[in-house]
Amino acid sequence: MADRIVTIESHIYEQQRRFPESTGEFSGLLCDIALATKVISLEVNRAGLVDILGGTGTINIQGERVRRLDVFARDIMIDILQRSGKVCAIATEEDADIIQVPRDLPNGHYIVSFDPLDGSSNIDVNVSIGTIFSIHYKSGSDENGTESDFLQPGVKQICAGYVVYGSSTIMVYTDGSGGVHGFTLDPSLGEFLLSHPDIKIPERGRIYSINEGYECWWKEHTRRYIEYVKSEGDGRPYTSRYIGSLVSDFHRNLLYGGIFLYPEDTRDPKRPHGKLRLLYEAAPLALVVEAAGGKATTGTERILDLEPDELHQRVPLILGSRLDVEDYEAFCRGER
Ligand code: AHG
Ligand code: MN
Ligand code: MN
Repeated sequence: MADRIVTIESHIYEQQRRFPESTGEFSGLLCDIALATKVISLEVNRAGLVDILGGTGTINIQGERVRRLDVFARDIMIDILQRSGKVCAIATEEDADIIQVPRDLPNGHYIVSFDPLDGSSNIDVNVSIGTIFSIHYKSGSDENGTESDFLQPGVKQICAGYVVYGSSTIMVYTDGSGGVHGFTLDPSLGEFLLSHPDIKIPERGRIYSINEGYECWWKEHTRRYIEYVKSEGDGRPYTSRYIGSLVSDFHRNLLYGGIFLYPEDTRDPKRPHGKLRLLYEAAPLALVVEAAGGKATTGTERILDLEPDELHQRVPLILGSRLDVEDYEAFCRGER
C-alpha cells in the first residue's frame, strides 16, 4: 500500500506534468473512463439483486427497463465518452461498426476501443469480471474518426488498461512509457486510490492459465508446452489457474507471475485464431504486460506489432512473464 493517499485523478495529472506541452485532453479522458467504471462497479455489485428487483427485459422498481449488465456497461461508457469532448469515435466488442460522436457534441482527437464486460459468462455466479480499454490518437484527417483510425497496431496505443470488479474493484493502466499503476476503489470515498504503484511482472511465474478442456483441438506445440509445464523439474510442475475471465486471469498472473494462453486451435476452420479479439482484449493487455516487463505474442509474432485487418479480428494470445512466454515461443519454433 502506498504511504500517502493518491487518487487516480491526482496521479493522472501528476503524470501529465511530465509533458509540459500537454493540453490535459488525455488526462481528462482517462478520468472520464475511471468515472464510467465506477458506475459499472456499482451496478456489478447490485447484479445479484436483479432477480429481486426485476429480471432482464422487465421493468425495475424505478420504472426503468433492466438491461443486461454487459449492455449497461457498454451504454454508460459510450455515454460518458461521447460527452467528454475528447473522443471522436468509439469501437466496442458489442458493436459491429464504429460509433461516432453525435454531431451536436464536441469532438476530440482520441479514439477509444473497449470490451465493456469481459468474462461475462461469470456474471451470474459472482466470479470476477472486468472492463478492458485502449486509447489511440486518431490517425486520419477526418475529424469524425473512421474505421481506419482503429486499424492501428497496438504499439501506437497512447494508453491502455483494465478494471477488475472482484473482491474489490481495481483499475490498472499504463501510458506505455510511464509504468503500470493499480488503483483500488474505496467504496466509502468513491475514489480509486493508488494501491499498486509501478507494477512489475515477475520474470518467471509458476502459474499457467489455459482452457485445458480444449486439449483435443490444440496444435502440437501447445500440447507439448503444456506437457512441459506439468512435468516435474526446476520449479515445475506449474499450478493451473483458469477463471475463464481473461481480465481476472491476466491480473492475477501480472501480480504473481505466470502465463495465460488462448492459442490458435483446430476447432473451427472459420476461426483458426482462437477466440480473443485484437482490439478489445489482446492489444490493450499486451501494452500493459510489456510496460510491466512481460511479453505478449501469438506464438510467432509480437501482439503489439500486429496491424489489424478488421475491427473484430481474433488472434491467438499468449502473455505473461517474459521467460515463460519465451519458452512457449521456443516450442512454437520447434526448438524444444
Ligand atoms: P467476453 O465475456 O468479453 O466475451 O470474453 C470472454 C473471454 C475471456 O474473458 C476468457 O478468457 C475467455 O472468453 C474464456 O473462453 P473459454 O470459455 O473458451 O475458455
Ligand atoms: Mn472479453
Ligand atoms: Mn465482453
